[in-house]
Amino acid sequence: MEKALELDREYPETLKDEFNVPTFKSMGLSHDSKPVTYLCGNSLGLMPKSTRYSINAELDAWSNCAVESHFEHPKKAEGKAPWMNVDLPVLPLLAPIVGAQEDEVAVMNSLTTNLNSLLITFYRPTEKRFKILFEKGSFPSDYYAFYNQCKIHGISEPEKVLIQIEPREGETHIRTQDILDTIEVNQDELALVCLSGVQYYTGQYFDIGRITFFAHKFPGIMVGWDLAHAVGNVPLQLHDWGVDFACWCSYKYLNAGPGGIGGLFVHSKHTKPNATAEYLPRLAGWWGNDAAKRFQMLEVFEPIQGALGFRQSNPSVIDTVALRSSLELFAKFNGIGEVRKRSLLLTNYMVELLEASKYYKHPLKMEELPHYFTILTPTGADEDHGAQLSLYFDSDTGEEGIMPKVFQYLHNSGVIGDARRPNVIRLAPAPLYNTFSDVYIAVNTINEAMDKL
Ligand SMILES: Cc1ncc(COP(=O)(O)O)c(C=O)c1O
Repeated sequence: MEKALELDREYPETLKDEFNVPTFKSMGLSHDSKPVTYLCGNSLGLMPKSTRYSINAELDAWSNCAVESHFEHPKKAEGKAPWMNVDLPVLPLLAPIVGAQEDEVAVMNSLTTNLNSLLITFYRPTEKRFKILFEKGSFPSDYYAFYNQCKIHGISEPEKVLIQIEPREGETHIRTQDILDTIEVNQDELALVCLSGVQYYTGQYFDIGRITFFAHKFPGIMVGWDLAHAVGNVPLQLHDWGVDFACWCSYKYLNAGPGGIGGLFVHSKHTKPNATAEYLPRLAGWWGNDAAKRFQMLEVFEPIQGALGFRQSNPSVIDTVALRSSLELFAKFNGIGEVRKRSLLLTNYMVELLEASKYYKHPLKMEELPHYFTILTPTGADEDHGAQLSLYFDSDTGEEGIMPKVFQYLHNSGVIGDARRPNVIRLAPAPLYNTFSDVYIAVNTINEAMDKL
């Protein structure tokens, strides 16, 4: 623990005090009011204290001025945007996090809904070009979306069109070269490449720039990314990488609250010019229409140039201000670059402690251990992972159910991660609020749990 405390003194930058960290008491673990060790920001980020105030300000506006708050916010002196423009101040905070121009991002809907909308625009299969490449074991929602988009286009056996790339036999993550080779082999039939930026199960961070660039060597292939586990976790350069589209949720590293409002990116190359007859076909709605004419109720759709033209409905005000509260903390931390620096220090420290455990088994080492864990996440190079580490628990004696026991022990000890049955526990130090001591406590508790098996 001494080294962890030393690191906390050496790298004191944390916004922990700006977040509500659950306590043993609030989580019903004991009567102790000390905070738990929360390492589950990859699933649900903690609540910024400012979120309560932001949401209350909107509840006040609703209760005091009701419909008029759409056009003039009663707290405009405090910088609150009228509801009809509530998402606009969020864009300059969000764009640098994903490496986009402000007119390339929109705050809207939720992740799967945005993915489906974007697929309507960017997955346009033809007789020759119809395949979709993504990773095996992708988040099921993505699989369902791809599968049913094929159905929408009249493809009767979608499984024949969906190419799912997976790690080689005996390996835990996918080699970039294998992705590139698969693109090359399928170059004439691929319509879309759509992987996750950071894989939810393994924590692998894909080489988004290289894969996008390579796929674009073959005209006709669109490249999109599901950034659920990448946004707010790793720095992105969506514009410079030439990514066609991307979408994400905001309840993980962006701390916008459960079911928070999602986001999307559409590269500016696809939204210019935007004259009425030339815009890209899309799922359209009044909120994507020219704002100046929105309330004229005309039967002419003239989309706003840029990602805002993909909005369909007016956004949830409560959800949008919750997102804004958290993004203000990213700005206060001096941006995603600083977040990533701290993230690497924390996660690499966790790797160091895990690898020093007597229960750690290197994936390529064959020695027999009664109980052990390995790290599924590629950790050899910083570019291959984000904050999350996925730990795989098993036993060479044939004993089953190791992981649930370890997970229960962690939970009872106030170390909060998440379990992916049957074998995996995911832990992610979130740089805005986690410390080196949190990391130490988590690994130490894993060792204790293994001792007790
Ligand atoms: C990688 C990935 N894709 C899609 C989803 C689905 O998200 P939503 O329910 O917001 O549509 C999730 C949710 O955690 C996810 O992790």
